[in-house]
Amino acid sequence: MLLLGVESSCDETALALVRDGRHVVASLIASQAAVHAKWGGVIPEIAAREHLTALNKMYDQLIDESGVSASSIDAIAVSQGPGLVGCLLVGAAFAKGLSQALGKPLIPVNHVHAHVSGALLGIDEPLENIFPTLSLVVSGGHTNLYYMKHATHFELLAHTMDDACGESFDKVGKMLGLPYPGGPHVEALAKQGSPGKLQMPRMVERKSLLTFSYSGLKTAVSHAVNRSSQTDTTKADIAYSFQEEALGQIVRKLSSAMNLRPAARSIIVAGGVAANSRFRSMMSAAFKIPVWFPSLNYCSDNGAMIAAMAYYQQQVTSDDSGVDWDVFSRYPFERYLAKDLSY
Ligand code: KG4
Ligand code: ZN
Repeated sequence: MLLLGVESSCDETALALVRDGRHVVASLIASQAAVHAKWGGVIPEIAAREHLTALNKMYDQLIDESGVSASSIDAIAVSQGPGLVGCLLVGAAFAKGLSQALGKPLIPVNHVHAHVSGALLGIDEPLENIFPTLSLVVSGGHTNLYYMKHATHFELLAHTMDDACGESFDKVGKMLGLPYPGGPHVEALAKQGSPGKLQMPRMVERKSLLTFSYSGLKTAVSHAVNRSSQTDTTKADIAYSFQEEALGQIVRKLSSAMNLRPAARSIIVAGGVAANSRFRSMMSAAFKIPVWFPSLNYCSDNGAMIAAMAYYQQQVTSDDSGVDWDVFSRYPFERYLAKDLSY
């Protein structure tokens, strides 16, 4: 089954053709990061207009370069939310138009869930060896931990009470005078830092799993920056200590989740922060079961993960695939929260 994935929820315009949920035939990703850099963050109206300008041209390029005829596409999958409303509407209008023009079905996909499917692209491991799994989506907008019995089942065990992990990297990057988006730059700077120079606060370890928190850590970094001499060395030490706790918190929560859901056969780590090499090594060292990460091309937003998720949705008939056409700009937490955990 050949699916076209359309992604436009934030500041990446992306299209991809994916066969059977795993094999990427072609993928184009146009990042708007340079456009938004001078503002220090994504400006929604500018982002929507950039998507509008890019999508038609990128579709023609995708078809030309892949050599695939448009008539052989079986369905069109589109990132339906959560995201920036104007950006989502541009992608949805494009996908609906294409679906009408080609006479092919349109499949709405939850963007956050699709990140998990992105981690399975290009690997041959049978799904029965991967599921049930504990999956993490650690991105600029979300820090969600799920238990998944299969590729479209999402039971939310933990989410952030305030900032998302990637968002905190971006804010800390700004405080340290690094370019937008801060994540990769904070990672690079942290490599120059030394352990033990700064004490970062640990988030209160509540009984409930349903909490990540980044606001206290962000405040601690702000104080550390203001107090420091702002040399390259002190900045690198701050980046190091921040990164250790920002990622360490996730490793600790995941260890607790393993005790609650011992049937998990693997761990999947997805979203933009999954590109962080320190995160990859911490996760692989902390757990005995296999940890799957997306290849670096498919950590940040991309069209291939949208097409992959839609493929799995097509495979299930049970109603827990759970995606409908309500355009939501926020993640519907209540719908997916685990029922047996108090919070
Ligand atoms: O998944 P994504 O592209 O967008 C959302 O759906 O939010 O994630 C983008 C986020 C940004 O906050 C970016 O700074 C962060 O992922 N990020 C990183 C790294 N690469 C990207 N954070 C930490 N280390 C990285 N290497
Ligand atoms: Zn994303």
